[in-house]
Amino acid sequence: MPLRILLLTVLLVLSAACGGPQNMLGPAGPAARDISTLSWIVLGIFSAVALIMWALLGWTALRRHGSLSEHEPVDVGGGQDWILTGGFLIPFAILATVFILGLRTMMAFPMKDGKHNHPDIRVTGHQWWWEVQYLDGNVDRHFMTANEVHIPAGRPIDIELDSADVIHSFWVPKLHGKEDLVPGQPSLIRIEANQPGTYSGQCAEFCGAQHAHMMLVVIAQPESEYQAWMAGQIDSSAQPVNGEQALGQQIFLAKPCALCHTIRGTEAHGTVGPDLTHLASRQGIAANMLPNNEANLAAWVTHAQALKPASRMPNVTQVSGDQLQSLVAYLQSLY
Ligand code: CUA
Repeated sequence: MPLRILLLTVLLVLSAACGGPQNMLGPAGPAARDISTLSWIVLGIFSAVALIMWALLGWTALRRHGSLSEHEPVDVGGGQDWILTGGFLIPFAILATVFILGLRTMMAFPMKDGKHNHPDIRVTGHQWWWEVQYLDGNVDRHFMTANEVHIPAGRPIDIELDSADVIHSFWVPKLHGKEDLVPGQPSLIRIEANQPGTYSGQCAEFCGAQHAHMMLVVIAQPESEYQAWMAGQIDSSAQPVNGEQALGQQIFLAKPCALCHTIRGTEAHGTVGPDLTHLASRQGIAANMLPNNEANLAAWVTHAQALKPASRMPNVTQVSGDQLQSLVAYLQSLY
């Protein structure tokens, strides 16, 4: 029976490691590859140690025969070579090897040295969402978005990590290990995706009630697609093209929305919540807790506290049903 449980556990662990969008053993970039290689080496070494130890224990259990008196020690001071070899030399060699391999993996990553190169992107953690600032080129090319980090595939991108409140942790398992976002202590992480694709991530440091709902996605695009995306994001927001959207914009600006959110190209300059200038181009809302669609936008505006209790997004109850429809139509036009 215990053997069956052991086998089932092993199978479960192995199957859990086989897939999934946040599998650190399925690396999609150089940093994640180094980390997963190290993980496999360490797993291999320690599995071998465990197997040898269990084999030795089994061997002694099976070979021991006779009574205690027959096994009285013949050499009281003996066996010290065994203790020195098995208890010190071999463990020292193994731990030193793992230590050196670990250091080598760490040295493959840029360290914060107080004067590191200008980062391409700055990610700031908030309870409970990710602010993403693009710092490429001149200030007039800088822009802000949220919860979605676009990068060019096949090129390393330096991200500065900071926090506006408590400690968060940036973790996109297929691209890199965890890196903390510490308020006032910016750190640097260099991520690279080998192939275009969408890589999901998660805040990996408990940061309050909605820590589990603090998701992010990294979208790696071919260089030309990435440049086109950047050009689109630098632009101000789309202006309403019909009466309903125009009404929605008026409601946005007249209701509390504009106090917390920015929509570039309008009077809305709030900085408490995510920049919504190109909201409709994003996959998710509420830090990727919900897919970005009409029903979820309406629900989020009116019932944020039910969906994500304790978040700073209030339930906006000052809108009628018709007004809500216009507001959502406007938000969905913000490509
Ligand atoms: Cu942010 Cu956990």
